[in-house]
Amino acid sequence: MNNVPRRLIASMLVLLTGFACASGFAAQDSKAIPGDVTPDVSYTLRTALTDGQLAFVGETGAIKGQVNPDLSAPEGTIVQIKLINGDGLIHDIVVPEFGAESERLNTQGAVATIVFMAGKNGTFEYYCSLPGHKAMGMVGRFIVGEEKQASADDATTSSKAPATVSQDPTAAGQPVGTRAPQDVTLDLETSEVVGHLADGSSYQYWTFNRKVPGPLLRVRVGDQVTVNLSNDESSEHVHSIDLHAVTGPGGGAAVTQVAPGQTKGFTFKPLKPGIYVYHCATPMVAQHIANGMYGMILVEPEGGLTPVDKEFYVMQGELYTLERHGTRGLQTFSLDKLLDEHPDYFIFNGAVDALTETHKLEAEVGDTVRIFFGVGGPNATSSFHVIGETFDKVYSQGSLTAPPLTDVQTTTVAPGGAIMVEFKVDYPGQYKLVDHALARVEKGLVGFLTVHGDKNSAIFHASQDVDAR
Ligand code: CU
Ligand code: CU
Ligand code: CU
Repeated sequence: MNNVPRRLIASMLVLLTGFACASGFAAQDSKAIPGDVTPDVSYTLRTALTDGQLAFVGETGAIKGQVNPDLSAPEGTIVQIKLINGDGLIHDIVVPEFGAESERLNTQGAVATIVFMAGKNGTFEYYCSLPGHKAMGMVGRFIVGEEKQASADDATTSSKAPATVSQDPTAAGQPVGTRAPQDVTLDLETSEVVGHLADGSSYQYWTFNRKVPGPLLRVRVGDQVTVNLSNDESSEHVHSIDLHAVTGPGGGAAVTQVAPGQTKGFTFKPLKPGIYVYHCATPMVAQHIANGMYGMILVEPEGGLTPVDKEFYVMQGELYTLERHGTRGLQTFSLDKLLDEHPDYFIFNGAVDALTETHKLEAEVGDTVRIFFGVGGPNATSSFHVIGETFDKVYSQGSLTAPPLTDVQTTTVAPGGAIMVEFKVDYPGQYKLVDHALARVEKGLVGFLTVHGDKNSAIFHASQDVDAR
């Protein structure tokens, strides 16, 4: 008696699968793969939703139970990937490198299959192409051939791995404390370096001290500050520095137009406390800034800032590339896109994965957290927000003398502007730093603040947590 519905379900699955196969054959550079071909390699994945994250989970064989498993195949083989909708949301699976795209699965239990030829060696991505799903976790690696060859493919034209230019957000400098004004010397070096932009891509950054943003400089109001700016002899451009904390010609830029291999400097007295942006101010200024030449200088008030448990240094910027967002290899600067103000990348601390993979922002429940946040830009205003938190204090517009705003959800930060925010973390989990112009997440703009510690159900609990008791 049970056989009837089972047979029915089986034939429905065949139908669905057959359907999916037909549409899945738009594969591999229009080289037609005959419909009756037997795949050399096949995988089955199931979609899953857990803790607000989406994933592909291995369904059978060696990958069973693995989240976003590495899939691999020898070069030149026919690959079949079957996808089962396990959560009832709409999903698909694509391997863009080989032109493989499944139909969208709309209902739980629906199945689609892609078949394509693994036509070249390298490490590629498979992911769900529904907007936001890749960012929510639906992405894995598809490796063709030996992985050693794959990493060679990752390298840029210079054939060596790109440098890490992304600034460590925990590099927030030393507080000035209660000291009196003194003489301070700040040595900075400008250089042009090929740096890691995202997984598999790189960019020719222009930098202060080989990082984007440049170092967080920390002085006291009333100090005698000497800035020495050296331009590395390998540079191809003149560079300079304009610090918004400087009262004087061009914020220093008028006397620091430095040719490659040379050094120039000046001395200034910071007259007002505050959190200020600095940047290169050599024409075309917007190009120098876009390429990474920005940072912040904190002028602490007499007596210093109130001590906190954790300080972080984060800056937002934009990159304008000839290639589309997500293209692999060395990306090329686009003047037209800069002038049109159409960035291909929005980034925190210089790279797409700077604050999600390369560096960690971590705190313990009960910590007070301070973020120095600025916008290098050069063009876009940020609507800075931390998902799942509110700012206890916002030192708006970088002013440390005006009373802070209290209990703020989202705050505006202009290009060439900076703020200081403070908040206590009360509950463990992963909090996301974003610009609430959230389309920019899709262009690379997100960071994680991970809070460790015990849950407090009086602050937050899911309804099923109560039901389970
Ligand atoms: Cu999806
Ligand atoms: Cu410059
Ligand atoms: Cu400026």
